[in-house]
Amino acid sequence: MSSRLLLPEPPVIDFPAWIAREAAVTRQGMHLLFSGPTQSGKTTLCRIVASLRDYVVVLGTKPKDRSLERYVADGYVRLDHWPPTRSDIRKCSGDGCHFIVWPKMTTRQDLRKHTGLYLKVLDQVYAEGHWTVVVDEGLWMCNPKGLGLGDVISDIAYGSASNMVSLYLLVQRPANVPPITWTSVAQALLFHMGRTDDVRELASLGTYDPRAAVVAMQHLTGHQFLDLPTRAQAEWAISEVPPAWA
Ligand SMILES: Nc1ncnc2c1ncn2[C@@H]1O[C@H](COP(=O)(O)OP(=O)(O)OP(=O)(O)O)[C@@H](O)[C@H]1O
Ligand SMILES: [Mg+2]
Repeated sequence: MSSRLLLPEPPVIDFPAWIAREAAVTRQGMHLLFSGPTQSGKTTLCRIVASLRDYVVVLGTKPKDRSLERYVADGYVRLDHWPPTRSDIRKCSGDGCHFIVWPKMTTRQDLRKHTGLYLKVLDQVYAEGHWTVVVDEGLWMCNPKGLGLGDVISDIAYGSASNMVSLYLLVQRPANVPPITWTSVAQALLFHMGRTDDVRELASLGTYDPRAAVVAMQHLTGHQFLDLPTRAQAEWAISEVPPAWA
């Protein structure tokens, strides 16, 4: 008998039902982790999940990324400065404000020159509260060899939930990102991952038997993700963004 037969398995839920459930269970002040290898679908899933929140600021740090451009297509106002001006705020459509702070970057030298801008956003988010801040490239933003903002993001993860800040952190793997940033989450959305150490570490975050979560993650295919709650009274599931939404 395979070990899988002895372990509980998460239900597979179609995406419209999953996102409706997500809307019902996520609250402002909950931190979320999106983890998966490059091109697994983190930015795409996060864009849809973040749209459930009213005040969102996405930090875009890649020179080019079609999945980040989809935020703009969805109505996010693209900024290369912070705070937003009155005219920026007037451009917000619908409920709340949705911004993507994503300055143009062309040369390699440009990659690190906007650290002060991201820091300004993070400091204001921390002080004001009630924002959802999306860190689209967690490793790059935290690592000293990238933007070196690991301490600031740790402060947000540790201290800002009570001020109703939601941190949505996207990482390819948990290694080299301060553990406080990804162990403070209420929910982990996990794509198929090859490295056994990463799979085990992330599986152990959840409220379900980590062995069952490991097996569930190892059996994910394509852009499927495992929704693994880390707090009691929430249920796990497997789902996938339909290609037409991606
Ligand atoms: N559920 C899906 N169905 C079909 N295509 C998808 C799905 N999710 C993402 N994609 C496509 O896969 C590609 C990668 O998606 P995305 O940019 O969201 O991945 P990522 O994990 O953020 O990658 P990276 O780590 O490189 O930033 C994109 O072309 C996107 O349109
Ligand atoms: Mg991405």
